[in-house]
Amino acid sequence: MRRKLAAGNWKMNGLRAGLAEMDALAKAHPAPAVDILLCPPATLIAPAAQALSGSRIALGGQDCHQETSGAYTGDLSAQMLKDAGARAVILGHSERREKHRETSEEVRLKARAAQAEGLMTVICLGESAFQREATNTLDIIGAQLSLSVPDESTGENLVVAYEPIWAIGSGQTPTPEQIGEVHTFMRARLERRFGSGVGRSVRLLYGGSVKAENADEIFGIPDVDGALVGGASLTAQDFSPIIEALEKL
Ligand code: 13P
Repeated sequence: MRRKLAAGNWKMNGLRAGLAEMDALAKAHPAPAVDILLCPPATLIAPAAQALSGSRIALGGQDCHQETSGAYTGDLSAQMLKDAGARAVILGHSERREKHRETSEEVRLKARAAQAEGLMTVICLGESAFQREATNTLDIIGAQLSLSVPDESTGENLVVAYEPIWAIGSGQTPTPEQIGEVHTFMRARLERRFGSGVGRSVRLLYGGSVKAENADEIFGIPDVDGALVGGASLTAQDFSPIIEALEKL
């Protein structure tokens, strides 16, 4: 049985005042029936780790460098994230692939480094609107999946998030059939590559305009093991009902 996962990606949002939202979320979910992960900006990981100690909310970063240390101005290593209190890291988000020109090969190297450090990697994949129109979405997802995921991955250290770029922050969501098609495909690919034991234990998240209003429908889709939530993870008021929808399953 895969444990459901509600993950929040705060992106470049959140000052120390935002710790109050995390605290409110922790108080609202003292014994959650699902895993909860919050990925705030890196500046908040250490204070959040302190504020949330004893809670059931895990913290993660939003990116890391593939090296442990060195002359990489502005970058953070997986070891540093872990040292600050992170247990996970999001890698290959489309905003990094697009705006920082990250390739799947780089994502794989980063993921390998993070997994070696004991972090859970949340590897993001997704097609653009143009790719969905002009090509075969499953080819795009298949290529990103095989190139971005390291061979060392297991059900514990790998989570894959399907985030169609056109659905992120747009209020537009794919149909349940479209989400289901991609998730079934990713599951089959993972089983083929890693064997059915590992392939079936990797959690698959959907991300892109998830909110309380559409959570039930999305979580009812086979092979959707949770969500990677952007905007609606920023406040306890918005994120709590999504967590509750996942807990109902
Ligand atoms: P939104 O939930 O704001 O659409 O963002 C999704 C996302 O990119 C999470 O990583």
